[in-house]
Parts: sequence; structure tokens; C-alpha cells
Amino acid sequence: MGTSSKKKNIVIFASGSGSNAQRLLEQFADHPRIQISALFSNNPDAFALQRAQNYGVPTAVFDRATLKAGEVQAQVEAYEPDLIVLAGFLWLLPAAFVQAFPNKIINIHPSLLPKFGGKGMHGQHVHQAVLDAQEVETGITIHYVNEHYDEGAPIYQERCPVQPDDTCETLAARVLTLEHQHLPRIVEELLTADACQPETPAA
Ligand code: GRF
Repeated sequence: MGTSSKKKNIVIFASGSGSNAQRLLEQFADHPRIQISALFSNNPDAFALQRAQNYGVPTAVFDRATLKAGEVQAQVEAYEPDLIVLAGFLWLLPAAFVQAFPNKIINIHPSLLPKFGGKGMHGQHVHQAVLDAQEVETGITIHYVNEHYDEGAPIYQERCPVQPDDTCETLAARVLTLEHQHLPRIVEELLTADACQPETPAA
């Protein structure tokens, strides 16, 4: 195995469809410095697993017991991740897991946190709450992950309007488009920000 140009490793966690995971798989499929090393899911039926397999990316399915016992942490550590991306991952990670990867776990959330975050605030629940509150704008938040739902330090937010005739579905589609536009870019920026100093000078 070569040591001179080791790629940065991303591990994705996803629970469902995985359309954000798909964007990451596309973005880094032939990237010179970054690769998707694995996709983990708590849901054996998650379409995200199929998406990863389509790209030849290893997948793993786990349950609460193995997550709590630290087995998932050990499996993830084996990939030496530079970044762990929660892309539609619905469980809270144990504190020990979070502490094992300081500043290396990020999440994408479909609202302008701290608004409309926390336990139970996922998927359509978020967008319905935005409509119920008669917000005039919503958006996305990419943030670091800590031991609490949706409370880690924000990295990036992008806004979009809430239209008067929006339904949950139209709003969800607008926000998801924003996620797809920005998540791969922010992930790439995070992984290349400190990557400009080669260890050995180019020949
Ligand atoms: C996205 O809205 C994301 O913000 C949230 O879960 C949804 C996942 O969608 N955390 P997908 O599985 O990536 O299609």
C-alpha cells in the first residue's frame, strides 16, 4: 500500500434513502485526495446501502447493542476516518463514540438551527413545524456533532424562502435541493483546508 499520497477517508452514516450520501459518492468517486471508505447504517433496508454498493463502497449494518458496546466505533476506527458524515442518520451517537472522533463528525439538518432541531425533529416533522410556525424562510445547517441532537457548533447555513402556498412536500424538496448543492462542497472544503502541505516535495 502506498504511503506517499494517502487519501482522506470519509465514513458516512445514513438511515434511509441516502440521496445526500449519493451526492457524496458522486463527488468523491474519482477524487485525487478524498475517498468514501464505508457507509454504515442502522437500517438494513436503507436504500443508502445499495447506493454505496453501486460505487463499490463497503457497507455495514448495526443495531443498538453493537453501537452501545463500542463495536461500531472499533469498526469505524479501522477505516481511519478523517471525517464522519451523518447524512440522514436518525440515532443519537453514544458519548464515547463522539469523544473518540473529536471535530470529525458532522451532520446535515434540514432547518436553520437552533430553530426546529432536537429529538424527533427529522424529515417531514421539521418542515411541518416550519409551516406551523409561519416562518418566511428556512434552510439547512451543517454542524459538528456532540452528544446532543442538533446542538454541535455550526459550520455552514444556507437559506431559502418559505412560499405562502408551500406544503410539507414542496418545502422538503426545496430544502433537500439545498442540501445536495452544498454538502459535498462543504465536506470537500473541510478535508482540503489543511491539505496544502505535501509531506515530501514533488519530484
Ligand atoms: C435530509 O433532509 C437530512 O437533512 C436529514 O435527513 C434527510 C436525509 O435525506 N438529516 P437523504 O436520506 O439523504 O435522502
